[in-house]
Amino acid sequence: MTTHTTAPVAQRLSGTVCVVTGAARGIGLAIAERFAAEGGRIACFDVGAARLEATVAGLVARGIEARGYLADVGRRDAVADAFDAVERDFGAPVGVLVNNAVWARFQPLEEVDEESVGRMFDVGLKGLIWTTQAVASQMKRRGGGAIVNLSSTSALQALTHSIAYAAMKAGVLGLTRASAVELSPHGIRVNAIVPGMVGTPASVGKFDEATVTARLAAMPLGRFGEPREIASVAAFLASDDSRYVQGAEIVADGGWTIATR
Ligand SMILES: NC(=O)c1ccc[n+]([C@@H]2O[C@H](COP(=O)([O-])OP(=O)(O)OC[C@H]3O[C@@H](n4cnc5c(N)ncnc54)[C@H](O)[C@@H]3O)[C@@H](O)[C@H]2O)c1
Repeated sequence: MTTHTTAPVAQRLSGTVCVVTGAARGIGLAIAERFAAEGGRIACFDVGAARLEATVAGLVARGIEARGYLADVGRRDAVADAFDAVERDFGAPVGVLVNNAVWARFQPLEEVDEESVGRMFDVGLKGLIWTTQAVASQMKRRGGGAIVNLSSTSALQALTHSIAYAAMKAGVLGLTRASAVELSPHGIRVNAIVPGMVGTPASVGKFDEATVTARLAAMPLGRFGEPREIASVAAFLASDDSRYVQGAEIVADGGWTIATR
C-alpha cells in the first residue's frame, strides 16, 4: 500500500534562492514544487520555451515565488549568463542548485551516433560542470550552499541499450565526489540522488506493457517511484538536515538494485 504524509512540510529552505535545471516537467518540476513548499525561492532553467512559461505561470498562480530562465545547460556561456540573471533578479546569490536536466536516447550499440552521444554528454555531464562552476562563485560569496545531482540506477546496474546513458550517469557520480572534495573548504556540499524507475513522461510512458510488467515484478516495493518521492530526497540533501552528508549518493529505487545485483 502506498501512503503519503499530508502533514505540512518543514520550512528548511526559507528564503533560499534555488536553481532547478530541467524544471519544466517531471522530477525537476516536483523538486521545484517541494522546494517552494519549504520556503525556497525558485529559479527554473529549461530549454522548452512554451513549457517553461506555462510551468512557471502555474507555480506563480499558486503563490510561489518562481522565475523561468531559458538556458541550455550544455552551453557554458548561456549557463553563466543565466546564473548572473538569477542573482540580479532575486537580489541574492544562489544557495541551492539541483542538476536535474537531461537529454537521453537509448540505442543499441550499433546505432549509437555521434550527435546523440554529444548532446547527451553536453546536457547531462558537461552541463553539470558549467552549472557547478557558475554557482560555486555565488555560493563562495554566500558562505556555503548545497548542490544535488541527479544520477540513475543505470550507473549501477546494466540495462540494455543504455551504453551512453549509463556512462553519463556514472560520470555524474564521479563528478559529484570530485566537486564535493574541491568545494568542501567553502562550505559547499555536493551529493547525488540515484533514482530507479520513476513515473514521468520520459520513463514509464515510453515502455511497452511487457517491459513495464517485467520491471514492476523486479521491484521489491512493487511499484515505480513518484516524482515527489525523489523531490523529498532532494529537499533533505538541499537542507541543513543533511549538513554532514558530503559526496554521497542516495539510492531511491524501491529496492530495485539490491534485488537484482
Ligand atoms: N524518470 C525516471 O525514471 C528517472 C530515473 C532515473 C534517473 N532520472 C533522472 O532524473 C532527472 C529528471 O528525469 P525526468 O524523467 O523528470 O526527465 P524529463 O525528460 O521528464 O525532464 C527533463 C527536463 O530537462 C529539460 N532539458 C533538456 N535539455 C535541457 C538543456 N539542455 N538545458 C536545460 N533543460 C533541459 C527538458 O526540457 C525537460 O523539461 C534526469 O536527470 C534523469 O536522468 C529519471
